[in-house]
Amino acid sequence: MAQDVITSLGFFDLHLFGGGRDALALAERLGPVSLCLHADSLCGALQQLMDAQGWARDARTPQALKGQCWLIASGAEQHDSELVRQAEAADIAFYAPRFAERSTLRLPLNVSVPTAQANTASGSFTRGHVSLVGAGPGDPELLTLKALSRLREAEVLIHDRLVSEEVLALAPPEVKRFYVGKARSRHSVPQEGINRALVEWAQAGYRVVRLKGGDPFMFGRGGEELEELADAGIEFDVVPGITAALGVAAYSGIPLTHRDYAQSVRFVTGHLKNGSVDLDWNTLTAAGQTLVFYMGLGSLATIVEQLVAHGAEPATPIALVEQGTTARQRVHCGTLNDIVASLADVTIAPPTLIIVGGVVELYSRLHWFDQQRAASLGWQHGKHASPLEKADKGL
Ligand SMILES: C[S@@+](CC[C@H](N)C(=O)[O-])C[C@H]1O[C@@H](n2cnc3c(N)ncnc32)[C@H](O)[C@@H]1O
Repeated sequence: MAQDVITSLGFFDLHLFGGGRDALALAERLGPVSLCLHADSLCGALQQLMDAQGWARDARTPQALKGQCWLIASGAEQHDSELVRQAEAADIAFYAPRFAERSTLRLPLNVSVPTAQANTASGSFTRGHVSLVGAGPGDPELLTLKALSRLREAEVLIHDRLVSEEVLALAPPEVKRFYVGKARSRHSVPQEGINRALVEWAQAGYRVVRLKGGDPFMFGRGGEELEELADAGIEFDVVPGITAALGVAAYSGIPLTHRDYAQSVRFVTGHLKNGSVDLDWNTLTAAGQTLVFYMGLGSLATIVEQLVAHGAEPATPIALVEQGTTARQRVHCGTLNDIVASLADVTIAPPTLIIVGGVVELYSRLHWFDQQRAASLGWQHGKHASPLEKADKGL
């Protein structure tokens, strides 16, 4: 006789057969249970879910799992049918969506499965859609209204290291949240895995937000992810964010252009391959421009050395702005000549942006945001509530 899993799932050792979309659809309905997965390979989204829930892979054959509970969703009808036959022959409790009427277990009835009918999100953010969203440089109040609305409607949220906790807190509590950044995780998710997971969550019918620090198209690999979605025929949109250069410049009082100093500005990656110098240093040292290096902290000495070797004045001002726009923002100023030595005893925390050019001189007169100001604006790391949140809570 069919048994309802709602009250009894916790008593079983659950084994899921399958690693593709059918298995994903089943697994994501289970909630916090202990589960072993049996599959030769897992799709990216199921792998994410497994990591997030702390589930394990199990290489044992079905025959070795007598007396346990099976969930059967291999994606192949014949294989499912064979597993169902084995389960019935061995009197094993099982659930197989393809063979629901023969299953001896039922899944909870109160789980929400995405369907087109249940599509309540506003505007163009429909089910099966990915929104590539820029989270800005750190201060949650620099989020755009559109980014906030996407976050609030998200069902799956895939984010990077640079997205602040304050911003993540704006997503609904029930959102499926996956961290795919590098620094906090020993096994960072390779880019192909992220691309695949985006496609699979969308194909499974979710509203997916891919949230990136700053702007997704500025040194953010947003283009690569969209190419994958376009190839798979997934609908997407892009919500721009305030890129670190603009946020950091504003919060440190260093205007990137100024008629007296710089008529153009260049955004440059400081992530130099194998420490080699593959930038066009001759054009970078042209007069009248501001240089902004992203990801340049580890290459600071090389950057400074190459700029001077290619004709930059050693007295050219340079600023390093760490954790810009947050309550932890710190600004270190110097010249190309002395900046490396001046930082010998200083520990600088990433993320840090490097600004080079005459405009840096304006810092001493125009800086306005410091820890005191941050505190007076209600900032406190981890405790910040934006005016939008306060309005929501009626504060
Ligand atoms: C992979 S890039 C991503 C840039 C991001 N897409 C953007 O538009 O800002 C990461 C680099 O951005 C810079 N960065 C990002 N946020 C920053 C912040 N709050 N303060 C200083 N630098 C920041 C750092 O140079 C960091 O190494």
